[in-house]
Amino acid sequence: MYTLTGLEMKNPTILAAGVLGTTGASLCRVAREGGAGAVVTKSIGPEPKYGHSNPSMVKLDCGFLNAMGLPNPSYAEFVQELEIAKKDSGVPVIASIFGGNPEEFAEVAQGLLPGQPDAFELNVSCPHAEGYGAAIGSNPCLVEAVTAAVKEVTDLPVWVKLTPNVADITAIGKAAEAGGADAVVAINTVKGMAIDIESGYPVLGNRSGGLSGAAVKPVAVKCVYDLYAALEIPVVGVGGVASWEDAVEMMMAGAAAVQVGSAVYDRTDVFSEISSGIEVFLQRKGYSDARDFVGLAHEAV
Ligand SMILES: Cc1cc2nc3c(=O)[nH]c(=O)nc-3n(C[C@H](O)[C@H](O)[C@H](O)COP(=O)(O)O)c2cc1C
Repeated sequence: MYTLTGLEMKNPTILAAGVLGTTGASLCRVAREGGAGAVVTKSIGPEPKYGHSNPSMVKLDCGFLNAMGLPNPSYAEFVQELEIAKKDSGVPVIASIFGGNPEEFAEVAQGLLPGQPDAFELNVSCPHAEGYGAAIGSNPCLVEAVTAAVKEVTDLPVWVKLTPNVADITAIGKAAEAGGADAVVAINTVKGMAIDIESGYPVLGNRSGGLSGAAVKPVAVKCVYDLYAALEIPVVGVGGVASWEDAVEMMMAGAAAVQVGSAVYDRTDVFSEISSGIEVFLQRKGYSDARDFVGLAHEAV
């Protein structure tokens, strides 16, 4: 069992926000068939939102570019999906939420409480939704205020998901910690763009979007490494994790657990694969627990 901010997980792998987390049924599938230790929902906001026009996701050689634009049915509609996930997934369910200001974040958190999430993850990091996500997550004062506003309406653990698209991610991490965050999650996607050279048109409907998958793993590892050194609260690593080796690397940088997003598109059972790989690694290295090597790269100097 891995305990993270009070959540009991059977292994340290978690479904990342926005990937297969749109319905209660898909969250249950990732937990039951995929073997995830916990699941995070799609980010949910105050009002229904259609998101950006298609194409909103494109596969590249090195990962994915997406500009979904935070499509969601609003907390009022999503609360039933949360109930389903809670009832049938058998794992902790973390509600990812967003808003345009501290009041909206608090409103969404309060609105989802009847669905009984196990924790909240605050999306202050989406790079392609004007007025939301990274627009808030690049400003330390706003990050602190948003975190404090959600902490005020709930006793549940609050995780704050950070953007790598800033000069110093540790300043934002410290702001989340000052606001009362129980953990930070690093990273959301890295700003990116692709252009079709025959037509000259940007490929994504929104023109630009966020890069995920293998290409962002070194960026994520560095962000996790820096946050682990700067903060007291746990860091959850996300970005390009597709194998147990990637997960161990992220944990050696300082991640207490890892989230997996893009890799789920190839196989939903990637969580079982990663957690059994970690178990074999633990035995081979003679570690009693993954905690023995979390942050190891900080000592290896
Ligand atoms: C299609 C897609 C949708 C996403 N939607 C969200 C979202 O709603 N909220 C959020 O916080 N992150 C969202 N993300 C970011 C992922 O949760 C994750 O931080 C990022 O993709 C890096 O991890 P990965 O390389 O394992 O995909 C999304 C990513 C993808 C690819």
